[in-house]
Amino acid sequence: MKIGFLGAGKMAEAILASILDGGLCERWNVTACDVSGERRALMEKEYGVVTTADALETVKTCKTLIVAVKPQDLGSLVASVGKVLTANHLVISICAGKDLKSLRKGFGVKPRLIRIMPNLALRVNQGMVVSCAAPNAKPADKKLVKKIFGGAGKVLELEEKHFDAVTALSGSGPAFYAYCLKAMADGGVALGLPKDAARLLAEQTMLGTSVFLQETGADLETFIAAVCSKGGTTEAGMKVLAKSSVASAYAKTLAAAAKRSAELA
Ligand SMILES: NC(=O)c1ccc[n+]([C@@H]2O[C@H](COP(=O)([O-])OP(=O)(O)OC[C@H]3O[C@@H](n4cnc5c(N)ncnc54)[C@H](OP(=O)(O)O)[C@@H]3O)[C@@H](O)[C@H]2O)c1
Repeated sequence: MKIGFLGAGKMAEAILASILDGGLCERWNVTACDVSGERRALMEKEYGVVTTADALETVKTCKTLIVAVKPQDLGSLVASVGKVLTANHLVISICAGKDLKSLRKGFGVKPRLIRIMPNLALRVNQGMVVSCAAPNAKPADKKLVKKIFGGAGKVLELEEKHFDAVTALSGSGPAFYAYCLKAMADGGVALGLPKDAARLLAEQTMLGTSVFLQETGADLETFIAAVCSKGGTTEAGMKVLAKSSVASAYAKTLAAAAKRSAELA
């Protein structure tokens, strides 16, 4: 199988690394196409894949294509390759906000289409990937998507109507969690902790909490209540947090990201 990346930026790199790590494809069977000479040089040096600036050549060589340009660059990409795509091509798009209808309009009716929303945590094999397939995608295409992304995180198939919310929560989510993590670490520094120690404590606590909750499947409110022993330190902090506007700020943050995702369509 030959896989072509149309756009070889940060997300393409994360996906490529997991494909190579998982032995899904040999490096010489992967083409990274990017208009940036810097990105091509990096892809060649770090991963030893074939690189080109020629999207048309990539489409001719590879039947599985991962579209990883920024949404605003999709139009020019489509203009250069749209007409040569065939029913033998599987096009997997990770472009935020670009729905199957608009992808179909650009890439034409022939190629099989799957829309994906990944996140950057793919890079450390802890990614969250949501997929939805166009009606012409075959069961084998869906299986391939699970194989490509499953080695680097969890893959969930959802109806496309949820994609703006998915984009906000898991696509943009790493930045929102990092913001929260920074606030926790800064709070630790304000209490006198060294900066590095505060960051480690905040990171490991976020990771441990997340793994604990996922492994036990504990109800979130029950878990919070269990940590807040009566008259204890967590309860004292939680009283302040519960009265603050943090929860509504997160709801508004996700709503703004979801709105932007809808606008990008
Ligand atoms: N970053 C995330 O966390 C994240 C999460 C979920 C989904 N996504 C989606 O993933 C996609 C890629 O995001 P990214 O963060 O990886 O962006 P990025 O780092 O900017 O990578 C995109 C690359 O594509 C190149 N490019 C632009 N037009 C091209 C063309 N016609 N042919 C070939 N290459 C072209 C760009 O070059 P120039 O920079 O020189 O234009 C750039 O190197 C976006 O659609 C985004 O919505 C990103």
